[in-house]
Amino acid sequence: MTAYRPPRLPSSEITPKNLYLTRRSLIGAAAGGLAIASAPSVFAAPETDYKVSDKPTTYEDITTYNNFYEFGTGKDDPARNSGDFKARPWRLEVGGLVNKPTVFGIDDLISSIPQEERIYRMRCVEAWSMVIPWVGFPISALLDKVEPLGSAKYVAFETVVRPEEMPGQRGLFQSMPWPYVEGLRLDEARHPLAILATGIYGETLLNQNGAPIRLVVPWKYGFKGIKSIVKITLTEEQPPSSWNLLAPNEYGFYANVNPDVDHPRWSQATERRIGEANGLFGGARMNTLPFNGYAEEVAGLYAGMDLAKFY
Ligand code: MTE
Repeated sequence: MTAYRPPRLPSSEITPKNLYLTRRSLIGAAAGGLAIASAPSVFAAPETDYKVSDKPTTYEDITTYNNFYEFGTGKDDPARNSGDFKARPWRLEVGGLVNKPTVFGIDDLISSIPQEERIYRMRCVEAWSMVIPWVGFPISALLDKVEPLGSAKYVAFETVVRPEEMPGQRGLFQSMPWPYVEGLRLDEARHPLAILATGIYGETLLNQNGAPIRLVVPWKYGFKGIKSIVKITLTEEQPPSSWNLLAPNEYGFYANVNPDVDHPRWSQATERRIGEANGLFGGARMNTLPFNGYAEEVAGLYAGMDLAKFY
């Protein structure tokens, strides 16, 4: 799979021992080239049933083909340029319209919430996709700790600003205004499929993937998955999101994966699975599913909304 192995979290910080042991043998099988799809259930969360039959993307591809503009705009820039980034110690500030505003130390937070593993299909707005075995926990578990007030309607997220460690935040040619910001409606954030990820394939999250903690919302385009989060704020008003600020006619607040609503400059009807064997047209191209295949679980969140308008 990959020659380099980052330091591993103790199993106690990741997942119950029985899951841990099964997972390690599964990763071994993956490294040996066996079909993971034959045993997807061992990655499923204990109390939920979010399985996918798709073959997970390799650790190598997941950690070398990235979007993280704080480290450069090329797909290989984040892996190459994030070596100086210090993901620990790390403080995550959660506040706004909550009863108990709290600053969490990242490792205290991780050990206070059971970590789960879930394989999610991820779809980028640029029409490529991956299947990623995330380690993390539902956002709801964090929100429960701070107790949102009744007036809270949205959750705003903010990435760290550290020009000294993030070359894309320095100099004249910065690609976008910092910090990178994102948001969800509170009921979206409370959906059990929406998680804060702290690892991939049982390994601690690497810098290029958004260490130490990033958002994962599998039914939305990848840009909603804000990385290296330092601040989460409960708000009454819809919070700004970076790509929407940059190009509002191209990137909406909702960003739900929708094959019927094209990006103004390209179709969103199909996607190319990274790492899959090249097909006739250069890449394993497949039809994109509404809500990235999670319609059964999440379509109800948008009942009655015009999804062409609220894209
Ligand atoms: N978060 C920050 N802070 N900066 C970014 O540039 N890029 C987004 C999202 N989160 C981005 C970010 C985009 S466009 C995508 S597709 C995903 O991260 C990519 O996540 P991955 O590299 O782990 O696959």
